[in-house]
Amino acid sequence: MRTVGVGLIGTGYMGKCHALAWTGVHAVFDDTPIVRRVLLCYVEVGLARRRADEFGFEASTDDWRELIADPGVEVVSITTPNALHAQMAIAALEAGKHVWCEKPMAPSLEDSERMAAAARASGRIAILGYNYIQSPAVRYIGKLIKNDAIGRLTHFRLEMDEDYMADAEAPFSWRSQASSGYGALDDFAVHPLSLITTLFGAPNEVFGEMSRPYPDRPDGGGRRPVETCDVASALLRMSDGASGTIQVSRCAWGRKGRLQLQAFGARGGIVFDQERFNEVEVYVAEGQPEAQGFRRVLMGPAHHPYERFIVAPGHQMGFNDLKIIEAHELLNRILGRPALAIDFDAGLVIERTIHAIARSSREGRWAAVG
Ligand SMILES: NC(=O)c1ccc[n+]([C@@H]2O[C@H](COP(=O)([O-])OP(=O)(O)OC[C@H]3O[C@@H](n4cnc5c(N)ncnc54)[C@H](O)[C@@H]3O)[C@@H](O)[C@H]2O)c1
Repeated sequence: MRTVGVGLIGTGYMGKCHALAWTGVHAVFDDTPIVRRVLLCYVEVGLARRRADEFGFEASTDDWRELIADPGVEVVSITTPNALHAQMAIAALEAGKHVWCEKPMAPSLEDSERMAAAARASGRIAILGYNYIQSPAVRYIGKLIKNDAIGRLTHFRLEMDEDYMADAEAPFSWRSQASSGYGALDDFAVHPLSLITTLFGAPNEVFGEMSRPYPDRPDGGGRRPVETCDVASALLRMSDGASGTIQVSRCAWGRKGRLQLQAFGARGGIVFDQERFNEVEVYVAEGQPEAQGFRRVLMGPAHHPYERFIVAPGHQMGFNDLKIIEAHELLNRILGRPALAIDFDAGLVIERTIHAIARSSREGRWAAVG
């Protein structure tokens, strides 16, 4: 049986998710090659060895270039801070590796464009960590829209809120540095945009607003000015006349992983929230008015690929399962099969949209996405 060798760069929040995905993908999807966890990279050599042992990787290094040069590594997982994605992804593609890079692509549009160009030139597969498009619920929503269940889409609203930076005393981190990008736009808005571009298409024009709730945060013994915006909003115009909004905040107390989508069509509506991502609410304006209302559809084996994880309906999937599905789609694409994934070209559409939102926010007027 074919095997595929993977290398993992970064072992933080997303690094562990990629490690778990690589560990589980063949057990869940038996049509994939057996995954060999070849090499893990972390900046400190002792911790790299420890993480490699914990995550089941054969070897470790503190030098990401060594990982990319390793002939046993066929696919590189990049889970480092945003500012490092471009150099790592481009080097990996130039070395002939396939790439699974965390979102966003890069803080600058120029670097994102260079990443997409490198992927095209390499002929290798390069996809981004837009896990939320992978859930059975979002796939089901896609099916409803494709099958015209709610009629022609008229408008949509997406919100992404968490509170991990809601405390003014939360420490300064790479996420507060301008080198990571605009802030909530690159960190969060890209996720709603992954759903919008997957389900409804790409926005034409945007009007943006960004704000910085706290001017500084604790850093070492003192305080350091925050360089990014933790809150952002945008109005969107689609080419078919539909309109939408996005609102995102990293400072929304009480919201833990809220990614809410409301889509309205000429005949009905759909509501989804990632905090309850095993269910979808659907409203269709038909039948007796007194019996009309939103219907809650609980995910189960009928909603692919739920059945791959567990045979029992309603027993619920979790976030890390989305990463397993994403790894499966990456392997599908490597094997030349149809796959649902946001590759670097599709990711560029998302990047162009957030840069247009930022431009609009600066200039105080509508901006074309281009
Ligand atoms: N898809 C999602 O839902 C999702 C969620 C959270 C974060 N992310 C993305 O994942 C990326 C990482 O975020 P995180 O929350 O895991 O951050 P993190 O700070 O928890 O982890 C970053 C890791 O990168 C490592 N690293 C930094 N420089 C390195 C270098 N030169 N060589 C090797 N390793 C290096 C760090 O040591 C750390 O292990 C970001 O781009 C972020 O936007 C995606």
